[in-house]
Amino acid sequence: MKNKNSADSKTDLKIYTTTQRKLIDKALNEFLPRGSIRPKTLHKSMRYSLFAGGKRLRPILCIAAAEACGGNIDQAMHAACAVECIHTYSLIHDDLPCMDDDDFRRGKPTNHKVFGEPVAVLAGDALLTLAFEIVGKSNPNHRYDVGDMVKELAITSGSRHLVGGQVLDIEGENAKLGPKALRFIHESKTAALLTCSLKLGAMSAAATPKKIEALTNFGHSTGLAFQIIDDILDVTQTSEKLGKSAGKDEAVNKSTYPAIYGLRKSRNEAAKLTKTAINSLKIFGKSGTRLKELANYLLDREY
Ligand code: IPE
Ligand code: IPE
Ligand code: MG
Ligand code: MG
Ligand code: MG
Repeated sequence: MKNKNSADSKTDLKIYTTTQRKLIDKALNEFLPRGSIRPKTLHKSMRYSLFAGGKRLRPILCIAAAEACGGNIDQAMHAACAVECIHTYSLIHDDLPCMDDDDFRRGKPTNHKVFGEPVAVLAGDALLTLAFEIVGKSNPNHRYDVGDMVKELAITSGSRHLVGGQVLDIEGENAKLGPKALRFIHESKTAALLTCSLKLGAMSAAATPKKIEALTNFGHSTGLAFQIIDDILDVTQTSEKLGKSAGKDEAVNKSTYPAIYGLRKSRNEAAKLTKTAINSLKIFGKSGTRLKELANYLLDREY
């Protein structure tokens, strides 16, 4: 019986994520300038990476957080699309030859391989900027105005979080990093945007500060687990399955959990972080079930 329930809840989560993904893609399609609009190459390049087949985890977390706080997908959709634009821009830049130098992303050749480096850099810039246009169109509520949401996204995307983390990640190649330094990189380059996705969803639902605080803790632990799993999959999976080149981290001597602690310890750490994440959802009671399922799915994912 226990197994049946767990299988049922997995199927239910699959239906949920598939449905959300379709709605997110539809909204993103409406927010993005058409490929026929000048400059066509730029808009085609932005669309190429955005619609290449990402898992849409950040927008799904954003919507699930809104729902956990009594809101809905319509209220959260601007924030959801904005975080996906930031994420996709960060991937285009992450893959550039001057950064991770990757040829393969979301199952396709990387943006710069198709459009050339100048357009790839500028498509990233344009997606970053578009994110603020989109979140700026969110509806305010009695607790949060649009400025609060824009500020949240800006702080997350900037030098103290996402961009800063990317700099430290690059500087960490060929260096021997200790656990604190590695954690700081993961917090900045990955956990910050996951947390921001949850917080923006909650803000769209006019969540109380206590609920926002709980989601911040949930996002922090889930985000750290997420990057550890990404680093594990880089070692254990094939490029075909990942849709991006596997084995890259070791090739450039990147500081990662598996490189420093080995696969088993890394896996245990990710499981521990997921438990901590789930514990921080207590305040939501039954409304936190979807977020709990998502945290477990992120831990068990194969790509
Ligand atoms: C990859 O993120 C980059 C990291 C922060 C580890 P995802 O695994 O969410 O990538 P997509 O969006 O599905 O392509
Ligand atoms: C990327 O980390 C984090 C970003 C902010 C883009 P990785 O460099 O490990 O991501 P992948 O493995 O290329 O997706
Ligand atoms: Mg990188
Ligand atoms: Mg990379
Ligand atoms: Mg990686």
